[in-house]
Amino acid sequence: MNRTLAAARSVAIRAAHRDLRPDDPRSSVTPTSTNVVLIGPPGAGKGTQAARLARFLDVPTISTGDMLRRAVQSGSAVGRAVKVVMERGALIDDAMMTEIVAARLGEADTQSGFVLDGFPRTVEQAIALDRLLERRGHLIAVELAVPDSAIIRRLSQRRVCDRCGRNAEPAAGNGASHEGAAGSAHSMVCPCGGALQQRSDDTETVIRERLRTYDRATRPLVDFYRQRRALRAIDGTQAPDLVMSQIARALDAVFDHAAS
Ligand code: AP5
Repeated sequence: MNRTLAAARSVAIRAAHRDLRPDDPRSSVTPTSTNVVLIGPPGAGKGTQAARLARFLDVPTISTGDMLRRAVQSGSAVGRAVKVVMERGALIDDAMMTEIVAARLGEADTQSGFVLDGFPRTVEQAIALDRLLERRGHLIAVELAVPDSAIIRRLSQRRVCDRCGRNAEPAAGNGASHEGAAGSAHSMVCPCGGALQQRSDDTETVIRERLRTYDRATRPLVDFYRQRRALRAIDGTQAPDLVMSQIARALDAVFDHAAS
């Protein structure tokens, strides 16, 4: 199914469901919302795919990394404490992250679904998310698999806009280039006029620590969601458009199953 048709259909399924009476038996089998969690090591492409997927599904993206970076930018006491943890490649504590995400999921625009980028990151966060999502439809976890060598290459090359926060566009393949944003890796200007800079946690030492943190704290989520048959694994080394179309196909199969 092509992307436009698939997107139209996922929106239509949700719209149809909104018209069902609560006691209609179909309301328990048709997804009320499209809730997607992206899991993957740093640099796997979660942010890249979250933006595409959110447009495709017509739901908001919730990126905990972006939320934390905004807190850091604000210069608040919390932001200063968060900055130290992020620059070590460690994780912010589960209670604080759950509180942040709970507040965001309480907003009206998330009722028809969302794409979560960066949460949950521990089994404790996943259990907390389950509680937050009671009676809010299916949750599908999409794992983006990318080997460490490609991640280190991508993240050492990544440049992020200091104004709009977007990554410079990657080229097809494993490495990231910045052609889409600026014409070359050395002309460091975003289309919005902001400067493209290296993220402070994208040095090789911190990237390696983030990978260790992922293996220890986050990778167990793959089994957590696989055991409940809510996991779809995608090869994240492919070109971004191909990754996106495979995610769309995997979600489509879930909708087909849920709606039948
Ligand atoms: P966060 O910002 O979430 O960082 P991350 O998980 O390390 O992921 P990244 O943003 O580095 O990478 P990504 O997978 O989004 O890849 P992207 O699309 O950017 O979190 C930062 C920190 O905040 C954490 O370390 C932690 O301290 C804290 N934190 C956040 N959430 C937390 C939570 N829930 N609990 C506790 N702490 C939390 O792509 C990367 C590069 O690759 C880009 O240059 C991109 O252009 C390129 N690229 C993308 N896709 C492709 C492709 N298919 N081919 C080639 N290049 C590609």
